[in-house]
Amino acid sequence: MPESSTQGRLAVVTGGGRGIGEAVARKLAAEGLRVLIADIDGANAARVAESLGAPHAARTVDVSDEAAVQGLFEDVESSFGAVSVLVCVAGLLILPNGERPLIKDMTVDTWERSFAVNTRGAFLCSREYLRRREAAPAADGRVVFFGSVAAQLGGYRSSSAYIAAKAAVHGYAKAFAREAAHLGITSNVIAPGLIDTEMLRSTVSSSGALAAVAQNIPLGRVGTVDDVAAAVSYLVSPAASYITGDVIDVNGGYRMQ
Ligand SMILES: NC(=O)c1ccc[n+]([C@@H]2O[C@H](COP(=O)([O-])OP(=O)(O)OC[C@H]3O[C@@H](n4cnc5c(N)ncnc54)[C@H](O)[C@@H]3O)[C@@H](O)[C@H]2O)c1
Repeated sequence: MPESSTQGRLAVVTGGGRGIGEAVARKLAAEGLRVLIADIDGANAARVAESLGAPHAARTVDVSDEAAVQGLFEDVESSFGAVSVLVCVAGLLILPNGERPLIKDMTVDTWERSFAVNTRGAFLCSREYLRRREAAPAADGRVVFFGSVAAQLGGYRSSSAYIAAKAAVHGYAKAFAREAAHLGITSNVIAPGLIDTEMLRSTVSSSGALAAVAQNIPLGRVGTVDDVAAAVSYLVSPAASYITGDVIDVNGGYRMQ
């Protein structure tokens, strides 16, 4: 099938090359959306798109790069049509030497890069999406941002830079919800708890340590990428059209209060 044909709503999933983003891409594709997998790791993005087959596609993009994000949307919309769904999964947790940096040791470089990917990336992608939907509305517009339980709790395994960057996403998504509401576009945050991905595994020393982590989760297990993809699937669906400006916890009860 040529790339220009359309099938269902078009979804852009940033960070779709692995982990949660890959599961989101697979879930949305299985539900009939056409998925564009955008990742700084172009090989991984291409691997996911190829395994899904046509009409899904991949693009390499650094979400922290303004021109690259604008170029992505220009390319995608001229190739496939209007983006209906934007899922901003791309994220970055920097652990210098594999260690969680304390604030007293935090460098400006780590701070800035954490914000560039986690926060500026979400802003740039959603700003471009909003500009384009203002010009050409699409039915059932949805933006799903990725925050974190770390932003809600202060975090145990991540860093101050990551926590602050994700907390900014939680606030930004509400501002976006207000400014996109007149277009019928919803904007929500998924706040994953402890989800078994390479990012989480980078914060624990062994599988045994991961099992120990699960003991603090009421449902008794670390989450799966499919647990998170299911929540995204619901937010993206027409059934969720009256939910906006919200944060959906996917954490096995880790943060219940
Ligand atoms: N795994 C968890 O326990 C957990 C918990 C809370 C929040 N999160 C958040 O969920 C999201 C997905 O996490 P994950 O565990 O799947 O992470 P991951 O590290 O496995 O995957 C992140 C993906 O984002 C891509 N990416 C990184 N920088 C990018 C950039 N500049 N431009 C484009 N793509 C980029 C990576 O290449 C990768 O494919 C992230 O936003 C993360 O912060 C994860």
